Amino acid sequence: MSMFKQTFILVLASTSLLFGFTSLAQTQGAGLGTPVSESLLENFDQVVEPDGSGLPEGNGTALEGKLVYDEKCQVCHGAEGEGTSGNTRIVGGDINSSGNPIRTVGSFWPWASTIFDYVRRAMPTDAPKSLTDTEVYQVTAYVLYMNGIINQSTVLNSDSLAAIEMPNRDGFIDRSQVQ
Ligand code: HEC
Repeated sequence: MSMFKQTFILVLASTSLLFGFTSLAQTQGAGLGTPVSESLLENFDQVVEPDGSGLPEGNGTALEGKLVYDEKCQVCHGAEGEGTSGNTRIVGGDINSSGNPIRTVGSFWPWASTIFDYVRRAMPTDAPKSLTDTEVYQVTAYVLYMNGIINQSTVLNSDSLAAIEMPNRDGFIDRSQVQ
């Protein structure tokens, strides 16, 4: 197709788009955005609370999670969770060190359910929300296993995950009532 023809078609297409928008705007106010559907909302409404409420059906073990981790996480978090750069270390660390305490999900986070919530919502950073709930259970189990918190065949589900006592569970002071 000649360059001229292509340009002509493009101009035609954008003109009709423009008119389309104009008439929409006239009949439906500003014509911005679309109404939010229930199914779209569901995708955002995925909060898991510290007590485990909001955890979905499903389960997984660290043994299964290693496969997910090696394929989808270790490129940034290192083969053993030691991290690659920046804030990507997710294993070990000593929160009580008198030097420079290293905070990881294992040494610092008070609730295991937050790992599930965070991974499901934000990881991998280049494809957030791409994991199934089963994969999130599996890889959460593997992160906990690498931190020495559960063993490799512990079955994580909504009950067992909520029941885990994280090492730093009592390391926070509740100041929400302080005036
Ligand atoms: C492309 C790189 C990349 C990939 C792949 C990736 N992550 Fe991350 N992850 C990061 C970065 C960067 C951070 C730090 C984000 C921040 O501090 O805001 C992070 C943070 C985390 C944290 C919280 C660490 C903390 O202490 O705050 C966890 C847990 C985690 N990732 C788990 C995973 C899991 C599980 C996978 C695989 C399903 C994964 N990540 C894949 C880059 C990645």
